[in-house]
Amino acid sequence: MTGTNANQRYASGPAGPITFLCLMSALSLDHVSKIYPPRRRGLRDLLGGGNKRQGFQALNDVSLSVEPGEFFGLLGPNGAGKTTLISVLSGLAHATSGTAKVCGHDVITDYKEARRSLGVVPQELVYDPFFTVRETLRLQSGYFGLHKNDDWIDEILHNLGLSDKANNNMRALSGGMKRRVLVAQALVHRPPVIILDEPTAGVDVDLRRTLWEFISRLNKEGHTILLTTHYLEEAEALCGRIAMLKRGRIVALDTTQGLLARFGGSDLEDAFVRIMNTEDTTGAQ
Ligand SMILES: Nc1ncnc2c1ncn2[C@@H]1O[C@H](COP(=O)(O)OP(=O)(O)O)[C@@H](O)[C@H]1O
Ligand SMILES: [Mg+2]
Repeated sequence: MTGTNANQRYASGPAGPITFLCLMSALSLDHVSKIYPPRRRGLRDLLGGGNKRQGFQALNDVSLSVEPGEFFGLLGPNGAGKTTLISVLSGLAHATSGTAKVCGHDVITDYKEARRSLGVVPQELVYDPFFTVRETLRLQSGYFGLHKNDDWIDEILHNLGLSDKANNNMRALSGGMKRRVLVAQALVHRPPVIILDEPTAGVDVDLRRTLWEFISRLNKEGHTILLTTHYLEEAEALCGRIAMLKRGRIVALDTTQGLLARFGGSDLEDAFVRIMNTEDTTGAQ
């Protein structure tokens, strides 16, 4: 099984004694809903004059599982709930109801193991301007208790075309280079599951190629990948299975080939447009 190959790699790699066993589903969501609370009450609410504010439902009864070794696509228009779903999996947002697990570890009750099994490349460019690239990656390694991680850090830097920027300060990097560092940060602890939230939004062709080569290699070595993107040709080329979200609900879930056969005119973009204009195509929810 491909997932096991990845686990063997971790066990023998420079990360030392940490072993990641992802023998159960790599990612699973069971009837997950997320309602963001209403914004803070203003004076009118406090004085009893305002209408009772309701929260915003970003996820509505989402059930999904991604198996070890899959390259899985999560697609949907802006505001569909993709980042919220990723935030629930990474523990940044708590589901209002339902359960979420990473490699069988509940993201609430077994947070540490769940987080350790996961590397997330966030949608927003977040970085600390006071550190160099290498310091940033060492710091990130430290969060996972990895104090001698430079061999792996060098390998990641090399594969992401960052070797000559290792000692540059983060604030001196271009946007594309900062994004490469975000990818590197997600990989420092060799997570069996890697989530990329729109990693190629607004980046140049060179980074796209470098990134997809590296991520495809990691996938071939057994890492599970979950990708969100608006570039449907990327999803079509890379993903074995795809879920489509619309207003917080899964409206399609199938193999890429299955979606193309059922809905595709000429490509996944046609299928996407058709699915988004149809109420529910899963037949299940
Ligand atoms: N912290 C938050 N508080 C309130 N509403 C939010 C918050 N984060 C996201 N939302 C809302 O939830 C919906 C889904 O957002 P998001 O998960 O970012 O969608 P996507 O990543 O698919 O574009 C959007 O309507 C967004 O405005
Ligand atoms: Mg998003």
